[in-house]
Amino acid sequence: MTAAAVIVAAGKGERFGNASKVLAELLHRPVLAWSLDAFQMCEAVDEIVLVAGEHTREAIIALVDTGPWSKVTRIVAGGDTRQQSTANGVAAVTTAAEIILVHDAARPLVLPVQIDTCIATAHKSGGAILAAPVTDTIKRVVSNIVTETVDRSTLWAAQTPQAFRTEIMREMMLADSENVTDEASLAEYLGYTVQIVPSDSSNLKITHPADIAVAESLILARKEPHT
Ligand code: CTP
Ligand code: MG
Repeated sequence: MTAAAVIVAAGKGERFGNASKVLAELLHRPVLAWSLDAFQMCEAVDEIVLVAGEHTREAIIALVDTGPWSKVTRIVAGGDTRQQSTANGVAAVTTAAEIILVHDAARPLVLPVQIDTCIATAHKSGGAILAAPVTDTIKRVVSNIVTETVDRSTLWAAQTPQAFRTEIMREMMLADSENVTDEASLAEYLGYTVQIVPSDSSNLKITHPADIAVAESLILARKEPHT
């Protein structure tokens, strides 16, 4: 089985307060370096396409030039929305991979074994995403008044990677939909099966500055940085 990974790193990091969020230091290395490591280590992944912002393009090219990530084939420009960035990345995949995965550069703690499971599951079912069961009690609220407590047992928080058979991913990229926040929504919209690969809160997305300290302590608690 062969897979190509599109790592989206073209966001503006508004909630983080720094447009170079994906280059912020996480245990003395850029966040993006950790994400790249995980995909470089996966045997099934034979190509990595990086999607960079105009504001970070030079720094990302310099990072990849001096790093060990031999699987990176292209560094392309992102768009105004995550969806546009994803579409640019998918269009730039050069290999005839059977599976294409999209991953947030801002999720540096993803494990190679999770990527492998997403690839294998997408191969069987068409699509697979990492997701974590929701642990908080969720309330529906209108004008600050609780109108409902939602049954949490069926709720999962979507993460990345999100993996699809290549032909499905290419069709998803053509879908004329409203702005969506993940790829799986496009597959659902087109009627494809999306299977969950259970994950947990350790595959966190660096969103706010405090997430760096949490990510660092999670890495330090591991036996090896990537296992
Ligand atoms: N992303 C992207 N292109 C965009 C928007 C987001 O490639 N136009 C990427 C980000 O770089 C990140 C991932 O999508 O790796 C998840 O997005 P998010 O965590 O929301 O990052 P930002 O959009 O940068 O942050 P914010 O929403 O706070 O501005
Ligand atoms: Mg964003």
